[in-house]
Amino acid sequence: MVQVHDLTVGYVSGMIAAGLFVVQLLIAVAIPFVLVGLLKEKNSKVTASAVTWSVIGRLLHSSYWPTILQTDSATNRGVRSEVWMLSWLQTLATVLVAITGVVTPLGLYEGVGPAKTPSQQVFHYLQDTSPFVYGTLARNNLPWSRICGSLARLGCPGSPNNVTIVSNKTGNYVQADWYNSHVPQNVIDVFQSGLSTMNKTVSSVFDIQWRSYTLLQPDDRAGVILIDNGTAYPVGTYEHISTITMDDQILLVEGLIVDTRDGGIGFRNHSAPPPREYASTWSEDILFIQPQTQCVDTNLTLDFSISATTSIGTSDIANLVLTDRGGFSNIDHKYPTWEMDDMQGNPDLWRRAYKAAFLNNVYSMFFLNVTAPANKSVPGSHAFEYVNSFVGKTFPLQKNGSSPYSLTIETNKIMTSGLWGYYLEGTDEASSGSNSTMKVPPLYPNPFNITSSNFSDAVFCGPGGADDANIKNFATQCGLLYGAPRRQDGTDSQMSEPGSAWTIPMYSCVSAAMASVKTVSFRFNGSDGLSGLTVTNLVEKNYPNEDSKPLWAVENTGMSLSDVNPLWGLVKPESQGGLNLSTIRKESLMLPGFVVFGEFVPKTHQNLPGVDFYCDALGAMYDVGHDSDYSGESNNAMYRVWRGLSRTSTTAAKILNLIWTDAATNAVAGTRSIATSNESKAKRTDDSARSDANTWPVILYQREIKYHLRYAIPAVILLFVAVCMCSLMLCLIVFGRTGPSKMRKYLNKTSAGRVLAGHIYGPVVEGDGSVNDEQSSRKWVDRVGSKQITVGGAIAEAAETYVAKENISPDNSQAEPFLR
Ligand SMILES: *[C@@H]1O[C@H](CO)[C@@H](O)[C@H](O)[C@H]1NC(C)=O
Ligand SMILES: *[C@@H]1O[C@H](CO)[C@@H](O)[C@H](O)[C@H]1NC(C)=O
Ligand SMILES: *[C@@H]1O[C@H](CO)[C@@H](O)[C@H](O)[C@H]1NC(C)=O
Ligand SMILES: *[C@@H]1O[C@H](CO)[C@@H](O)[C@H](O)[C@H]1NC(C)=O
Ligand SMILES: *[C@@H]1O[C@H](CO)[C@@H](O)[C@H](O)[C@H]1NC(C)=O
Ligand SMILES: *[C@@H]1O[C@H](CO)[C@@H](O)[C@H](O)[C@H]1NC(C)=O
Ligand SMILES: *[C@@H]1O[C@H](CO)[C@@H](O)[C@H](O)[C@H]1NC(C)=O
Ligand SMILES: *[C@@H]1O[C@H](CO)[C@@H](O)[C@H](O)[C@H]1NC(C)=O
Ligand SMILES: *[C@@H]1O[C@H](CO)[C@@H](O)[C@H](O)[C@H]1NC(C)=O
Ligand SMILES: *[C@@H]1O[C@H](CO)[C@@H](O)[C@H](O)[C@H]1NC(C)=O
Ligand SMILES: *[C@@H]1O[C@H](CO)[C@@H](O)[C@H](O)[C@H]1NC(C)=O
Repeated sequence: MVQVHDLTVGYVSGMIAAGLFVVQLLIAVAIPFVLVGLLKEKNSKVTASAVTWSVIGRLLHSSYWPTILQTDSATNRGVRSEVWMLSWLQTLATVLVAITGVVTPLGLYEGVGPAKTPSQQVFHYLQDTSPFVYGTLARNNLPWSRICGSLARLGCPGSPNNVTIVSNKTGNYVQADWYNSHVPQNVIDVFQSGLSTMNKTVSSVFDIQWRSYTLLQPDDRAGVILIDNGTAYPVGTYEHISTITMDDQILLVEGLIVDTRDGGIGFRNHSAPPPREYASTWSEDILFIQPQTQCVDTNLTLDFSISATTSIGTSDIANLVLTDRGGFSNIDHKYPTWEMDDMQGNPDLWRRAYKAAFLNNVYSMFFLNVTAPANKSVPGSHAFEYVNSFVGKTFPLQKNGSSPYSLTIETNKIMTSGLWGYYLEGTDEASSGSNSTMKVPPLYPNPFNITSSNFSDAVFCGPGGADDANIKNFATQCGLLYGAPRRQDGTDSQMSEPGSAWTIPMYSCVSAAMASVKTVSFRFNGSDGLSGLTVTNLVEKNYPNEDSKPLWAVENTGMSLSDVNPLWGLVKPESQGGLNLSTIRKESLMLPGFVVFGEFVPKTHQNLPGVDFYCDALGAMYDVGHDSDYSGESNNAMYRVWRGLSRTSTTAAKILNLIWTDAATNAVAGTRSIATSNESKAKRTDDSARSDANTWPVILYQREIKYHLRYAIPAVILLFVAVCMCSLMLCLIVFGRTGPSKMRKYLNKTSAGRVLAGHIYGPVVEGDGSVNDEQSSRKWVDRVGSKQITVGGAIAEAAETYVAKENISPDNSQAEPFLR
């Protein structure tokens, strides 16, 4: 059933055409009917002048009545076939015209479509309504602050601090007249120089700001170099504002584009063109920083069950064991390595994760005496001389009746840890049982004295604090991910019923952060707020050739990573600005820096988020399950996501990427905006620069009239018929077979009045015989047209005697006698 609001303009036009056709038909049928009704019959005969009969004949025979009643002017018997065909063709054409008139407009409809060419639109700021806007303090041109040196203050690279280190017998002393925390403008300029080769929407490291910040006033202790002569300097702070929803979408929050599909944040202070009735679309190149994580299954699991009976105050985790799922028995005995020569070109994260898993497993095997390390005093000895394990072998990690040693296991949380082999912690120590006078023997004798420091010394997956702070040593953090516990019976149940058995997969993971430029497609539609803005596409920027790829630079600091995180950014080849830089031309840059393991610190030591936040977020990724909110224990929506992703090592990597993304989203915001572009700030006096500074090419959607082509079929057929008839007509005209005079001749010859008068009065009254001359019609009317003729009897007959042609005037109304 078609509702009123379903009607399109096309339907309405079609209906109007149909209505008009019906009205036209009615009038065309009615007029001859009325005319016949007005003919006053006397003895079923009507008398009228000859010319009246011509007009009556034309009205009656050109109407639909001959066709309806199949009278002789519509018959086909005895008619010459071409005449008959043309007569039918005319009828068909009439029907076709009627159908076309109704059907053709039905194809019309209104649509909204994109304009062919983009137009420059002025952008304006879009305010977020989520909690992130409240957690983001007002931007107030806070200066950057950079403080180098971990144990002692050191001058930062490129800064004018004249810090000197003096060594004498009692130790090393740092001497300086003053310490300036400001980042010099020439350093800022160098790390923004490459932006001129990019769209103005691409951020630099200096377009990244902490969401919240504070000032730090150093205390005035003697012997400590006073920062900024003892005045307060800015530092970033971290508060967890809100947990992003992790449902595979692209979110827009104040200052960021958040990718919860692959993890990552793009820096953009959101703006949009003026709101319109229809959508606008455009695309921008945006700087993104993404976590890169690779996980390898250790092929070891932690298995446990829920105690059949629980008493208050005791753990309900029972029979916690480490199960060999191939991680011990099927371990590849070849010592793995990863590529360290070209770290930017080949980050090799998977092999780093694999090597960490390998060493974690091997040191666990030594601990459990599954195998023995090479004995240096025995020549030719090597590890794996014996392997006392098989797939499915379990190693208890808990004594009956007591709690697990190290891990705080729950059935509703995940954990990450930067400590390898932490699950073994404590199992080689004797403990006091319930009878305090008697020591309970340890679970494992640990014959090779493996300690946690053996694990941490062996497993390194990236640079340490003593390594050089340069382009080579990108920030890396690794650790073990304890996935979401699953029921061993294979069901999807999350209920920790007494006696149920559970298993926890363990993955070895390595993470780093990567910067790249992505092309983001936006659509602005609906409300004039951030909710009206959506990201329709997000892809890596496509570079046509090697030279168009961005040139990344990283500070060559000559200091160690624990003292400074190097600055990085897009540069122009010529603008080294007297700084010591390493550059690389590549789509992406693995970001340099040093990760301090652990949760986000509430107060940072400097205000340079562009080099700090991703390291802090990497540290937070591997400290889940202690205090942080990322375990899923207190957020069931998040835990459901973690459960789904815990199943394989590839999807487990996404858990860590999402944790990084959430931590980073809460920490920083991008300030670059089209609406208040930095160019306009810089060139405020330059009017021409300002007028197009906050504009961007946008494709506007607009209303369009569209047409469904199938409704044009009758029109096409009609056009074809018309073209055929016109061509035929032209041919006949060219060959002189048809023309106005021939037409006039036959019109006059076949007009009813002439036929009748000719029949009754004979050729003498037919006129002068020249039927095809222009005056002939007038002459005939003058001479013969007013002769009265009676029609209706067996034959037509003259009604009066011959009237002298001179007495007849055309305006002498002869119709009167028979009109009522
Ligand atoms: C070493 O240098 C520090 C700072 O210059 C000074 O205070 C200290 O007395 C010196 N010690 C010796 C033994 O010279
Ligand atoms: C953005 O950059 C691309 C090339 O990288 C260029 O083709 C495009 O025109 C730029 N867009 C604007 C609006 O500057
Ligand atoms: C600190 O004081 C010194 C000497 O008064 C001065 O030269 C320097 O510029 C000051 N530094 C700052 C950051 O104010
Ligand atoms: C665990 O098993 C998988 C599949 O067999 C294998 O790819 C992976 O390397 C193994 N992990 C370790 C640490 O050996
Ligand atoms: C190494 O071999 C020597 C000689 O066989 C033996 O005394 C020593 O206990 C072995 N060391 C270990 C750690 O097994
Ligand atoms: C704990 O008790 C179960 C049976 O109740 C037994 O199979 C298991 O070996 C015990 N584990 C330890 C470490 O004693
Ligand atoms: C503790 O164990 C010792 C030795 O088995 C035993 O003599 C003593 O009675 C026990 N004490 C208690 C309080 O159970
Ligand atoms: C370790 O395992 C080996 C081989 O099974 C065995 O000979 C040795 O006694 C074990 N060491 C300890 C301390 O149990
Ligand atoms: C804009 O929003 C309207 C109404 O919500 C919708 O019908 C239309 O498809 C949207 N335009 C685009 C380009 O998505
Ligand atoms: C840049 O720094 C590196 C490492 O500190 C050093 O080896 C190199 O000589 C420096 N280059 C310049 C031009 O200062
Ligand atoms: C974005 O720009 C608006 C308008 O200039 C400003 O009020 C807001 O603080 C900016 N937000 C960020 C995160 O830079």
